[in-house]
Amino acid sequence: MVLRLKIRRQEASGKAYYQIFEVPYEEGMTLLSALQRIKEDLDPSLGFRQFCRAGICGTCTLTVNGFPKLACKEQLLPYALFGEEILIEPLKNFNVLRDLVVDNESFVEKMKSLNLWIKERSTDPRIPPELSKRIETSADCILCLACQSYCPQVLEEDYAGPLFFAKLYRLYEDPREEAKALRMRQAVVEGRLYHCLSCNKCNLVCPKEVEPATLIRELMQVMDVVP
Ligand code: SF4
Ligand code: SF4
Ligand code: FES
Repeated sequence: MVLRLKIRRQEASGKAYYQIFEVPYEEGMTLLSALQRIKEDLDPSLGFRQFCRAGICGTCTLTVNGFPKLACKEQLLPYALFGEEILIEPLKNFNVLRDLVVDNESFVEKMKSLNLWIKERSTDPRIPPELSKRIETSADCILCLACQSYCPQVLEEDYAGPLFFAKLYRLYEDPREEAKALRMRQAVVEGRLYHCLSCNKCNLVCPKEVEPATLIRELMQVMDVVP
């Protein structure tokens, strides 16, 4: 069986085009291994990101037939069986640097500017098991950007997006976080919580089942925004 991958290429100058590669299918092949095969055997100039190859680091997310997916978790057997061409593009809602590599610095900078982490404390850092279970879903986020790339509101000016709220939910619920009022202000003012469409698209594409849209609705309820 042969895989046919149609890949969006983009040069540093901004010139973009699509290129088709054919790769022999191997048992257990993932999209990331197919891209690696292209890079090794067909075109060493192909640019894409990868690191853990195990669905943990969140660096390999790409748009596959219109949906954001982790390349290292995307099995290619169904495509090979049905002879379906696979359309591979960089993540949407981000500027493309080259080929399949997008610029995620602005998001990193936003997270830094809002201090989206818990400050060190001298008091007991233990979390009760029942609360730990409640916040563990949001803590599973691997910053893969899939939800950000699929959210229709992210390009609206200043809407922070589902990933931001998944992180903020964790901080709001975590008993070690003392700045609850600040987190609420960040959600409403900096994040524009109210601008969420509640369309659930972020829930559909999250590979870790974080369900950002559900967490956003919970944040809204906390603030009595939802009647
Ligand atoms: S539910 Fe809200 S955050 Fe999620 S994709 Fe829709 S608009 Fe974006
Ligand atoms: S919430 Fe899910 S889709 Fe969004 S960055 Fe985290 S793991 Fe990825
Ligand atoms: S390479 Fe780490 S999640 Fe895919």
